[in-house]
Amino acid sequence: MNREWDDKIREAAALIAAAEALLVSAGAGMGVDSGLPDFRGSQGFWNAYPPYRELGLDFYDLANPEWFASDPELAWGFYGHRLNLYRQTRPHPGFELLRQWSAAKPGGYFIFTSNVDGQFQKAGFPEERIHECHGSILHLQCAAGCRGPVCPVGDRAVDVEPKTMRARPPLPDCPACGRLARPNVLMFGDGYWQPQRSQQQARRLRDWLEAIENKKLAIIECGAGTAVPSVRRLSEQLLARPGTALVRINAREADVPSGQIGLAGGALAVLERIDELIPGR
Ligand SMILES: NC(=O)c1ccc[n+]([C@@H]2O[C@H](COP(=O)([O-])OP(=O)(O)OC[C@H]3O[C@@H](n4cnc5c(N)ncnc54)[C@H](O)[C@@H]3O)[C@@H](O)[C@H]2O)c1
Ligand SMILES: [Zn+2]
Repeated sequence: MNREWDDKIREAAALIAAAEALLVSAGAGMGVDSGLPDFRGSQGFWNAYPPYRELGLDFYDLANPEWFASDPELAWGFYGHRLNLYRQTRPHPGFELLRQWSAAKPGGYFIFTSNVDGQFQKAGFPEERIHECHGSILHLQCAAGCRGPVCPVGDRAVDVEPKTMRARPPLPDCPACGRLARPNVLMFGDGYWQPQRSQQQARRLRDWLEAIENKKLAIIECGAGTAVPSVRRLSEQLLARPGTALVRINAREADVPSGQIGLAGGALAVLERIDELIPGR
């Protein structure tokens, strides 16, 4: 590791140590060191899901709510496979470091993520301190439009044939009306998404930000891409708030607004190195 790199990490460690509150934000790159794929471009997506290469369908084509009406087995093949994968995945140790740093802050912490994989909850972060801005695969809503409540997927199983990526019936059903359910995830052009769960989380995040108005806030952003910029946008908007600083950890897209810290590397390795350099840890 070169000198300049270590100096930057040391700077990040000092900033995190001095902060009175932490906002941890994350995109798909945060899951990569737990063994999850990010969806970096069509090629990256097809490397993770070869059957879709044959079908000529990329992430943008598949993350479309219309499939639940026109071809539910294809729709649930994609989301069911991800549901199963996220259920099997254990969050990498970087999550636990973030949890420990967060727990020590007088102003507390919050998680903001575009990931739908439930990995922060699995790593021990409480539900009421997480905003999942694109929803959660571990929650269901009605696909038939009954507008019943959003509810946890629980132990419902989805059986996906790996060669075709199609789900075998029975498919998850709506607890309110018994017709087809879909994940409570925001898809592209999704006029059917029921945002109430995510909106409630957003209100809690807003209230927390108000409550820590006069506190020094560090944002630690991990693996958030530029293609769907929801996470990066929030990190950068919050810099307008006095006393706020950003540490951006990203394998390939670590550029930052001037005065902020960008660390080019994998989330786990960088978080571990920061932990070694936090004074008093
Ligand atoms: N696990 C999930 O829930 C999941 C997985 C894939 C995509 N998505 C969703 O798809 C949309 C697009 O996602 P996105 O823009 O976050 O992803 P993306 O795939 O476009 O970008 C991933 C980012 O992570 C970085 N990265 C890759 N490996 C990394 C590592 N080991 N450590 C740190 N950074 C790393 C890449 O440089 C890139 O900037 C979002 O809504 C996202 O939440 C979710
Ligand atoms: Zn219903």
